[in-house]
Parts: sequence; structure tokens; C-alpha cells
Amino acid sequence: MPKPSPPDESTGWQVEQNASEAYEKYLVPPIFAPWADRLFETIDVNEGDRVLDVACGTGIVARRAASRVGTGGSVVGLDINEGMLVVAEKTAADIQPSIEWRQADATDLPFSEKQFDVVCCQQSLQFFDDPAVAVEEMQRVLAPGGRMSLSVWRSLDYHPGYVVLADALERHIGDEAGEMMRSPFPAWEGEDLRTLVQAAGIVDVSITIEIGSVRYPSVEEFVRRESASSPLAEAIAAVGREVRDELVLEVEDSLHAYIDDEGVISPMESYVVTADKNQ
Ligand SMILES: C[S@@+](CC[C@H](N)C(=O)[O-])C[C@H]1O[C@@H](n2cnc3c(N)ncnc32)[C@H](O)[C@@H]1O
Repeated sequence: MPKPSPPDESTGWQVEQNASEAYEKYLVPPIFAPWADRLFETIDVNEGDRVLDVACGTGIVARRAASRVGTGGSVVGLDINEGMLVVAEKTAADIQPSIEWRQADATDLPFSEKQFDVVCCQQSLQFFDDPAVAVEEMQRVLAPGGRMSLSVWRSLDYHPGYVVLADALERHIGDEAGEMMRSPFPAWEGEDLRTLVQAAGIVDVSITIEIGSVRYPSVEEFVRRESASSPLAEAIAAVGREVRDELVLEVEDSLHAYIDDEGVISPMESYVVTADKNQ
């Protein structure tokens, strides 16, 4: 592996902001916002509902929920990461009803039972130490007749852009960087998710496979934006220009089948689980 050289200020690849701000700026518009809209196509959220967004990140699902519940409803966004919540609060400053932001672990929700009509968790279950306990917690805080919606990316096999990016990061930056880029894509099947939710006590479970894509204006921007929004943003930005150029060239080479006049596109596939709690 080439030796990291000192950061090169001229390349524009420095961490220009923190990873949470980069996440909101670079990953929410092309990925998490459209997938949040798809999440709400699969679940009823009505005026007056009380909604909990578990592992809300910078809060895109909570913001979408607020426009559906109206001022008679309420929305809480919860995440373990303070940086994400700071950006969430700033981004939602003008949204009504105002969203309550809570810092806590999804496996130990700081709410009493049956407190919410809707519980959502978009692309986060795969990061919890104990996903089964987290789903039990979501079930506990859901009111009878309440709805739960969870989404989890399908495995890396269905995400060619990220297979290539993770392999290149591993080779040019290190094992940890490769692992980090693979971590959102667990090797779970839909049936594993059904079992998880049913084990938590909700029998009425439906799972769909949703297919979409993500587009970036160039391979360099794909690598740069994904890296800048990740927990390893600083480590990746700290390698020299030579290493980054090689990384981008390798990704370009391996992804040639997905490069067109508008940049680069990669398919993305997700399981979306909806579950109804009995009255
Ligand atoms: C890929 S982001 C998804 C964020 C958001 N749901 C969205 O759609 O943009 C994963 C989020 O899970 C959060 N997270 C990871 N482990 C957690 C835990 N144990 N409890 C609560 N949040 C957690 C992270 O801080 C991060 O914000």
C-alpha cells in the first residue's frame, strides 16, 4: 500500500466540515431523502399521529413525518450521535410542528410504553449492537394499532458501486476503511427481518424489496462525498493526493459499466418492513 503523504491543501479533498454536515449535504439529497419518501409510501402516517424516528441521523425521516402529522401531531427524532442531532436540529429549525430531538441508544429507548402511533427506523438497524433488543424496544413504545416501518439495505451483492468503493478503500486506505464502507449492507435476508420483528411480538409483518439507484456527477465526487460523510472522513482526507488519485482511478476503472454522460450511477436495493401492532 502506498505510504500516506501529508494532506495536500490544493486538492479540495480536505474535511471542509464535519461528517454529520457532510452527511446532510452529500448523502441525504441523493439517497436518504428519496428513500424516506418511499418509506412513507409503505406506511400510513396521519394527521395527529405521534411519530418516533429511531436513529434519525440528521433527521430526514422526522422532517418528512412532521409534514404529515400536522400541528395536532408530534415527532421525536432519536439518535446516539450528538453531531447528527446538532445538524438535525439546525436543519429542522423552521419546521412545524417542531421536532423534539433526543440523544439515546436505540436498545434502551427513554420512553414509556405505548407512547407512539408510528415508529420508523431508516437504514440503521444494521448498526445496532443488538438489533433484536432495539426492535423489542420499538414494539414496546408503540401503541396498540400502531405501525412500524424499518428499512435495511440488501447485501453488497446488490450494490455494485459500493463493492468497488469498499475494495478500493481497503487497498488504498486500510482494512478499517473497507469494513466501514461495507457495514451498511448486512448479509440479511428478508426472512431474517421478519423473524426479528415477529420475535419482538408483532405478527402482522410485510416485507417488500425496493429497488432504486444513486447518482453522482463523477466518480471522484462519489468517492469524495461518501468518504467525507463517513466516520473515517478525517483519516481518508489525510492521505496524499497521489493515493486519492489512484483510488479514484481504480474505482473509475472497475465501475466503467456504470459511467455515463451524467456521471456515475449505482443500483441500490433495500428491504422495507412494515409491521402493525394488534389493537
Ligand atoms: C446511516 S445513518 C441513518 C440515519 C437516518 N435514519 C437517515 O435515514 O438518514 C445510521 C444512524 O444510526 C445511528 N445509530 C447507530 N447506532 C445507534 C444506536 N445504538 N442508537 C441510536 N442510533 C444509532 C447513527 O448515529 C446514524 O445516525
